Amino acid sequence: MGAIMHQVFCRNNSQSTEALAVADAVLGKGDRRLLTTQGDLLESQTAEAPIGHVLAPRSIAADDDVFLHDTLGLFDSPGYHALLRFWASFVPNGRIVIPEFSMAGGFGGSHAEAMFGPASMSKEIGKRRYHVHDGCPWQPSGSIVDWWARRGMDVVQRQCDSTPWSFEESKISLETAARFEIPGDEAIRSMAALGITEASSTWSYQIWAALAKVAVIRWIIGEFDAPATAGHLDIGAGPGLIGAELLLDASLGVSHSLGLEIDARGPWSGCLLAGSDAASLGSRWRFRLGSAATWRSSSPVGICTALGSLLYLPRSEAGAVLDEAWSNLEPGGLLIVHENMKHRRFVQDHACMFDRGELERMLGRYGEIRFVGATSCRHLTAAEVGEKTIFRIVVKRG
Ligand SMILES: C[S@@+](CC[C@H](N)C(=O)[O-])C[C@H]1O[C@@H](n2cnc3c(N)ncnc32)[C@H](O)[C@@H]1O
Repeated sequence: MGAIMHQVFCRNNSQSTEALAVADAVLGKGDRRLLTTQGDLLESQTAEAPIGHVLAPRSIAADDDVFLHDTLGLFDSPGYHALLRFWASFVPNGRIVIPEFSMAGGFGGSHAEAMFGPASMSKEIGKRRYHVHDGCPWQPSGSIVDWWARRGMDVVQRQCDSTPWSFEESKISLETAARFEIPGDEAIRSMAALGITEASSTWSYQIWAALAKVAVIRWIIGEFDAPATAGHLDIGAGPGLIGAELLLDASLGVSHSLGLEIDARGPWSGCLLAGSDAASLGSRWRFRLGSAATWRSSSPVGICTALGSLLYLPRSEAGAVLDEAWSNLEPGGLLIVHENMKHRRFVQDHACMFDRGELERMLGRYGEIRFVGATSCRHLTAAEVGEKTIFRIVVKRG
């Protein structure tokens, strides 16, 4: 039997030195392997010493230890609980080390104890407490993490293997026809194969973005008292994972979710990932292909989200889409917007990103804007917001 490997999970490759040092401090010195949210999901042909991916259990033995560095940031939400169970299942005969988070809505030691039983050891390193728990076999948790655990790697492989094709010619449209409203003519429906790196970073983003955003959005839904049995509209939904995760959390009472999406690759890949599990959502999880700018509706919804999508529409169209969404919001309904604020470090979309003034002029037309942090479940004052990327919420008064 080989030596037990310390599988050290952290967010970015640049944090590796610190993450490895903290893992040593908690677990003692040993053989280590690094996994990040940027590593390759599929075996790379070129890398000499590939860094693993935290979502792909490749090369982990059942009696290894999984160490989670605090750069991964964990919330107390169904999605993160599912993720922790998934990670613990990589090492059913080993241990998982879980950092404690004290921010509002963070995953704390008591949450870890409720999930995994008492810690066998706890250690404080710097200002962070780490708890060591036994690994355990995987059990479905009723979250999009189940979808990933069951089919994630197959979907990635399929996206890398596929030859260019058109959405309309593919049987995917038959398999999942019930998920799509009549597409707008302008929807992008051609598909090309993804490279390993592109597929890895795309899926890494989709899963992380959905889990982190839903952790805060579910708090917002309760805190701002969204209408009971609310419908959800998502502008620029990508694969629709935000809507799916909201629906899968029965405690939220979200009745249905419609994703407006111009690029068929997003919904297509979301449907592939959901696979047969999507049957549990029935017709409650749907997409409308085409530009959000051409969407018209008279079906009331209680929650409208626009997450990293308004910037891609011409400004006049973004305003008109929000007007249409606002007119469909029920009294007490929530408009929830999350846009990365324009900053030098965002090179790719810099030209079309919002600055604070522009975004708040657009949203302020509907009423008072309330602010909630993106990395903790708490209200922010206007003075605290500064140029931070946060959630902005407007409640529709009755
Ligand atoms: C950065 S992604 C965000 C996806 C998702 N909201 C999330 O937070 O993970 C932006 C999405 O907006 C979509 N999009 C861009 N322009 C659009 C339009 N005019 N109508 C609908 N969707 C659009 C893109 O295709 C893409 O899927």
